[in-house]
Amino acid sequence: MQCRFIIYRFDPEKDTEPHYQTYVIEAEPTDKVLDCLNRIRWEQDASLAFRASCAHGICGSDAMVINGNVTLACQKLIRDFTTGGNFVIEPLPLFKVVKDLVVDLEPFFEKYREVKPYLINDEPPPEQERLQAPEDQEKIEPALACILCASCTSTCPINRADSDYLGPAALLRAFRYLFDTRDTAAGSRMADLDQESGIWGCKTMRWCTDVCPKGIPVTKCLTQIKSAIKKKGKSG
Ligand code: SF4
Ligand code: FES
Repeated sequence: MQCRFIIYRFDPEKDTEPHYQTYVIEAEPTDKVLDCLNRIRWEQDASLAFRASCAHGICGSDAMVINGNVTLACQKLIRDFTTGGNFVIEPLPLFKVVKDLVVDLEPFFEKYREVKPYLINDEPPPEQERLQAPEDQEKIEPALACILCASCTSTCPINRADSDYLGPAALLRAFRYLFDTRDTAAGSRMADLDQESGIWGCKTMRWCTDVCPKGIPVTKCLTQIKSAIKKKGKSG
């Protein structure tokens, strides 16, 4: 079938304003949107910029807006859309456009680093490895699927209104370590998160959960952080 891709273009080195450019290609209903973008770049316009790597929903690099919704271009097929073969492709909202569909994710990773996204344990390491019971691992399991695609953070209305807010992706990573039984820094992690730009910035709007391409119950995980901090407050 013939498909029309209307793609956001902006090259800050040449353009004063963004514009949209239309490309027409032949595509199969089972083609991924990413396949089509690749073909446009390979066959029609090598100057079109976008990020992609694994093409299988693993690397998280091709989050973008397709027909108004934030999603991964490699996880959407042409037949998933009922727009008569018409596609409007735009960069992730919230972040500064570097070129076309490529945005500057440094502010996103800055927030990610703020939550200390690594295991903290000052006790001497055991001879082999720090073990974790399967039932304890299950508690943090949902968060392990996060591919840091930034879809949630770019969609969250709080993030759009408050640039200081850590955002759902960073908070989800905080959840992952806060509830990891091998981590010994729960107290200081909770103290760091216990602020309006931290966990209390979350107003349970659930946009993060709705948009997550990995189906992670982000809001539910963030609610568990709130409960843990409240419980700690009560116990002094
Ligand atoms: S929680 Fe989901 S939407 Fe957010 S960064 Fe991780 S995978 Fe992407
Ligand atoms: S290209 Fe890796 S997640 Fe889509």
